[in-house]
Amino acid sequence: MQVRTNSKNSELVERARRVIPGGMYGHESTVLLPADYPQFFARAEGARLWDVDGNEYVDYMCAYGPNLMGYNHASIDAAARAQQALGDTLTGPSEVMVRLAEDFVGMVSHADWAMFCKNGSDATSMAMVMARAYRGRRKILAAKGAYHGASVWNTPGQGGILPEDRAHIVYFDYNDLDSLMDAVKACDGDVAGIFATPFRHEVFEDQFLPSVDYAKGVRKICDDLDAVLIVDDVRAGFRLARDCSWSLLGVEPDLSAWGKVLANGYPISALLGSDRMRDAARSIFVTGSFWFSAVPMAAAIETLRLVRESDYLERMVAIADLLRAGIAEQALRHGFALRQTGPSQMPQMLFEDDPDMRVGYCWTAAAVRRGVYLHPYHNMFVTSALTPADIEKTLTVTEEAFVELRREYATLAPQSNEYVAARLKARAAA
Ligand SMILES: Cc1ncc(COP(=O)(O)O)c(C=O)c1O
Repeated sequence: MQVRTNSKNSELVERARRVIPGGMYGHESTVLLPADYPQFFARAEGARLWDVDGNEYVDYMCAYGPNLMGYNHASIDAAARAQQALGDTLTGPSEVMVRLAEDFVGMVSHADWAMFCKNGSDATSMAMVMARAYRGRRKILAAKGAYHGASVWNTPGQGGILPEDRAHIVYFDYNDLDSLMDAVKACDGDVAGIFATPFRHEVFEDQFLPSVDYAKGVRKICDDLDAVLIVDDVRAGFRLARDCSWSLLGVEPDLSAWGKVLANGYPISALLGSDRMRDAARSIFVTGSFWFSAVPMAAAIETLRLVRESDYLERMVAIADLLRAGIAEQALRHGFALRQTGPSQMPQMLFEDDPDMRVGYCWTAAAVRRGVYLHPYHNMFVTSALTPADIEKTLTVTEEAFVELRREYATLAPQSNEYVAARLKARAAA
């Protein structure tokens, strides 16, 4: 193994503790990860990432999703630069806003209009408000434990959140129509909308696709109630399909929320809707100082062109399948039961018999120390920029990580992280 330093990262972490609450916050904080995970990064290219100490990684988090076409993608960055030279955040939107809406609506079969914002949470919150505006009802139904963002109505955090913030959010079990119907009945005619995650992709959990019957059942319930079906495609969008992810199940929502990959990392998200939702969309007031900035829109136009015209999806799935097969063979050979769930381009890897995650933490940390950035409990993301050489390097590293795990296995220390323990307890209770 190469000699690896992390002194610059440690110094930045120390400095950050003084001027940034907790040193770092949110989903990109490494506080729950082993100490080998760097917090700060310096640069990236294609599927590779370098931390502030110059350590190089094959990156299987892709900025938690956005890197679809490769970091520093030439034509996307060129489109952004060309727009930057003209102007970005102006007194009103540029032509690119209309072009982007036309292109996006032309690609997503349920969509007749688009609204743009910055983060996935903006898009899901906008969908929530719009669903209520549609028929003047209050209740929003969402699957238990499903992540739809970090606004007061849906953040998994508890601090500063009032019961009133969620008074009209009603939960049901994912992929369970009976549970959904119970939730509907409890709402007594007041259902505004139902949120759907394209597939079950929550932290610490195996991933799974919903059944076609479930997806069609949700659509029918919404039709019967004249309520709004919202697919939250923020995480999975364009990694499963070139259309809304539930198009694969033959179901069209009324609204779909997008973000992450939309401009390959430039900050923009969107809510798409059908004609049925047009009046409700016009009736709400939503905006932001940076929502109409032209540079991310220009980058999104080029990203969408690549989605339409390139074979990125087929390449990404094929290379992700190679990774899955290689890791499965290694796990078996080393005598570990490793569950790889969800689509191979968004894999979740969890070990059997690993109640406090000590096995998963050991294996992923061993990979990180050798230059492959895996995540122990969050679904990972594959970029279409991944090359056969990246897979070869990855499998060399994961092989070594399995050897290390086998060596350490009997003496692994228990994980003492309180948050991880609480999540696992909640999972066991469910
Ligand atoms: C399914 C889903 N919805 C919404 C969000 C929120 O997006 P953002 O972090 O851009 O606000 C995320 C982010 O991970 C997500 O995965």
